[in-house]
Amino acid sequence: MRRILKVIRDRHSERGAFDASRSIEKSDLKLILEAARWAPTPNNMQNFEILIVDAKEQLEAIGKLPADMSESFLRENYAQLAFSEEELRVRKTGVLASIFPPAWTNPEAWTPDSDYRSQLTFLGRSVHETPLLLVVLYDGTKRGPGSEGDVLGHMSLGCVMENMWLMSESLGIGFHVLTVFSDSPVEQEVKRVLHVPAAMKVAFACALGYPADPGAAYPRVRRELEEFVHHNEFGRKDVVWSSR
Ligand SMILES: Cc1cc2nc3c(=O)[nH]c(=O)nc-3n(C[C@H](O)[C@H](O)[C@H](O)COP(=O)(O)O)c2cc1C
Repeated sequence: MRRILKVIRDRHSERGAFDASRSIEKSDLKLILEAARWAPTPNNMQNFEILIVDAKEQLEAIGKLPADMSESFLRENYAQLAFSEEELRVRKTGVLASIFPPAWTNPEAWTPDSDYRSQLTFLGRSVHETPLLLVVLYDGTKRGPGSEGDVLGHMSLGCVMENMWLMSESLGIGFHVLTVFSDSPVEQEVKRVLHVPAAMKVAFACALGYPADPGAAYPRVRRELEEFVHHNEFGRKDVVWSSR
């Protein structure tokens, strides 16, 4: 049991560079895709397809796609930023501002005529040194029965993500989720480059690779159990845990 919890706790977003000299072993990639294969989906719909992108040509073509961030995204993103490790540890939610390009963390850069505007184009940076991308496609023709907006179908894509992430972690493979791939018009361009059928939606992509500096760590925080666990009625916090 504790071994499972260790993999869950150690799983993290790879924020550092990948080792450009190492590609993902085929056998490891197969294990990661097997983990996706066994993800739970509503009614076992299996509403996803996964595109492996490892050809230099395709990676470069994707890397060149413009990915201008909308002001509303930048604003909401900004609200989750901590500007020091100490602030992050106190907040216990959100991320360090330093993981993003400086222009994302400076509201003055967001106006359309700002000189910083060009720094907001991030797709190339995300994909640049990645030996392999997995692009996860949502197949909207396989809807979770009775699920408004197919919320349940979308939830299952999170299960696919987590299964692949945990397997990657257990193999020592760095994993970085890129939801920018699902943003229109980036999504349209990604679909064009990869010949994705119109009925499919890009749910997310993940960049995989061996970390260039496996020892590098950045602070990861979570709320304490007492902060989000309630007992029998909302707001009641009377669970006493044994120390084992
Ligand atoms: C659905 C989902 C979407 C995410 N999208 C992105 C993303 O687009 N870019 C990114 O850098 N991280 C993304 N992340 C990673 C989160 O920022 C990260 O999981 C969170 O900050 C906690 O850090 P940890 O993964 O290291 O524990 C995403 C995570 C999830 C679950």
